[in-house]
Amino acid sequence: MLMRLIEWKRDTITTLIVHTPAKINVFLKVLGQRADGYHELDTIMVAVNLYDTLRFDTIPEPGSTGQITLTSRWMIDAPQENLPVIPDDGRNLVVKAAELLKRYVGRPELSVSVLLFKRIPAEAGMGGGSSDAAATLVGLNRFWQLGLRVDELHALAAELGSDLNFFLSSDPVAKCSGRGEQIEPIPDLAPLYAVIIKPWSGLSTKAVFDAYHAHAMNVDYASDRVLAVWKKESAIPGSLVFNALQAGASRVNSDVSKILKHLSLLPQTTGIMTGSGTACVALVRTADEGAQLARHLRIQQHGFVVSVRSSL
Ligand code: C5P
Repeated sequence: MLMRLIEWKRDTITTLIVHTPAKINVFLKVLGQRADGYHELDTIMVAVNLYDTLRFDTIPEPGSTGQITLTSRWMIDAPQENLPVIPDDGRNLVVKAAELLKRYVGRPELSVSVLLFKRIPAEAGMGGGSSDAAATLVGLNRFWQLGLRVDELHALAAELGSDLNFFLSSDPVAKCSGRGEQIEPIPDLAPLYAVIIKPWSGLSTKAVFDAYHAHAMNVDYASDRVLAVWKKESAIPGSLVFNALQAGASRVNSDVSKILKHLSLLPQTTGIMTGSGTACVALVRTADEGAQLARHLRIQQHGFVVSVRSSL
């Protein structure tokens, strides 16, 4: 599993900790728009070792029946004004996931206190909110001892959003299709090393899909080709990396275009935006190259910078 679960019990109190990763897209092709407005995608998602942490605790009686409480804390070292406010109510996917689980099992009395430690930047295209929600489904299934099967969790995940299913997967790389929710795990690929550069400005997924229509980009190959080459050569050639949403996002967010321009000037580095942005990714060959590039990029003050590798 991509997530790490740690559980302990003391008297009647149970605590469960879940570490859940971020994702990056190294290939994202838009195949078309469906009647329901969603876009049909062919994309490769890679889980990386940047984790949010959720802590689930029993709320002491009395008066806790049915309560879901969420408290979030940014663990990113940055001025407060650079970090978006995380809603702690029903707008947060964590609360939505908990409420959906309760409805699904018909147990309105279930309660929990959730502490969310955020290291994955928001409005980044790194699946942070989706990862947290997927961790909530997995975590509460254990915490509340619901005994739901993985296929049931997948169905609930798809109801909550397009990116959650990937985080329920067991391999760090998956080919994702449909609106992103249909996943095919790809085992045994060589590790991937990258540096994430996230400008302090963000973009909503919807805004980027809207911008895509004005600045559509396409390639004539599919994710299968990228995966076949990755398998054969133990790396992804820069020439195959692609994100159809990048041109539109660069037009509506000048920070994205600035970062991608900077990355295009670096030797032996491939720059790409991940998902719907605004985080950009520099693919490098080794962990050492990643650490060195991260030091260089931090000095440029583009925003949040972290060196990562595919996780497991
Ligand atoms: O499914 P999710 O909540 O992540 O999507 C947020 C928004 O992004 C959708 O309401 C839709 O406007 C857009 N989207 C899309 N096609 C996708 C995924 C998301 O148009 N495959």
